[in-house]
Amino acid sequence: MIQFMRRALELATLGRGQVSPNPMVGCVIEHNGRIIGEGWHQRYGEAHAERNAIRSVKPEDEHLLPESTAYVTLEPCSHYGKQPPCADFLIERRIKRVVCCNDDPNPLVGGQGFAKLRRAGIEVETGILNELGRELNARFFTFFERERPYIILKWAETTDGFIAAAGGRPVKISGDLSHRIVHRWRSEEDAILVGTNTARNDNPRLNTRLWPGKNPTRLVLDRNLALSPDLYLLDGTQPTIVYHQVEGQVPTKHSAIIHSFAHSLIDVLQDLHQRRIQSVLVEGGTTLLQSFMDAGFWDEMRVFRSRTMLGEGIKAPAVRGQLIQRDLIGDDELSIYRP
Ligand SMILES: NC(=O)c1ccc[n+]([C@@H]2O[C@H](COP(=O)([O-])OP(=O)(O)OC[C@H]3O[C@@H](n4cnc5c(N)ncnc54)[C@H](OP(=O)(O)O)[C@@H]3O)[C@@H](O)[C@H]2O)c1
Ligand SMILES: [Zn+2]
Repeated sequence: MIQFMRRALELATLGRGQVSPNPMVGCVIEHNGRIIGEGWHQRYGEAHAERNAIRSVKPEDEHLLPESTAYVTLEPCSHYGKQPPCADFLIERRIKRVVCCNDDPNPLVGGQGFAKLRRAGIEVETGILNELGRELNARFFTFFERERPYIILKWAETTDGFIAAAGGRPVKISGDLSHRIVHRWRSEEDAILVGTNTARNDNPRLNTRLWPGKNPTRLVLDRNLALSPDLYLLDGTQPTIVYHQVEGQVPTKHSAIIHSFAHSLIDVLQDLHQRRIQSVLVEGGTTLLQSFMDAGFWDEMRVFRSRTMLGEGIKAPAVRGQLIQRDLIGDDELSIYRP
């Protein structure tokens, strides 16, 4: 049983970066120890995992469905969204048993998929590889359970612990391979946030030009609306939200730029929750990263340490949490921490 669920979890990951705000879901159809169908949720708005798995069953095996088990990583949906409900489809195809990792954490729908299946006489079992299922969709679970996006703090520091040269002058700290990985990370999250000084000093684009993936929504803090409209961030090429505390608008003509009032990080996180943004990559600088750490608003920390030395400059935030992974990326050391 465990191996079929592991396979379903593996299939689910193929949807990474493509399905948000839906969760990644995988499904395996098993009959007498043999896999007769497999599927996963491939893209937001398209068919869900259960439907893809059942459709992949060969015509000569279809008669086995009433004797088969569907291993699905998350509770099948029971409501009409962009797709008809998977629970109905499983009932219609007369599947015998449904086994899941997790219940749906969305308070509006959680439990209803299982209830519908049980009412139709389908055996239901849930909680199999529960932790792995939660890990797979950590963004989705954090969003519903904590009512805020999943927050990843990311920065690159020199061996002597600086993130920028004196006066905030940007310097290249990590190597090309690390940069490429960061662009992959950007494609995997819904949004990416920077502080005012970083926007001003680095003039970042915050896109995914080094990786084939979607661009995230850009977020920038600009309390006093003092940033220049000539910055890349405000060029209108990507959806961008400017958080400010004074009345007004950045003088820019692009409709992709949204203005939102925020007096604190809590306001920003509430705004993101309302916009159904499930994850944020926070890319600095130190002041902003530190304020997330101080407030306890973080779920992961990803730190590149390079071999370069600066001697002086802006100090990197002090790492905290528990080290869960360490890798060498070219000449840089990448460490990942959890609270
Ligand atoms: N190596 C790296 O990974 C990396 C990454 C990013 C940036 N950097 C470097 O870091 C330098 C900037 O770092 P920094 O610490 O000076 O600046 P920062 O964090 O980019 O921006 C700080 C400013 O953002 C606003 N801000 C930050 N947190 C806020 C909060 N919780 N609520 C409201 N406003 C908030 C404040 O602006 P106001 O006071 O104006 O309102 C604050 O002064 C840049 O020069 C850049 O080169 C390095
Ligand atoms: Zn579904």
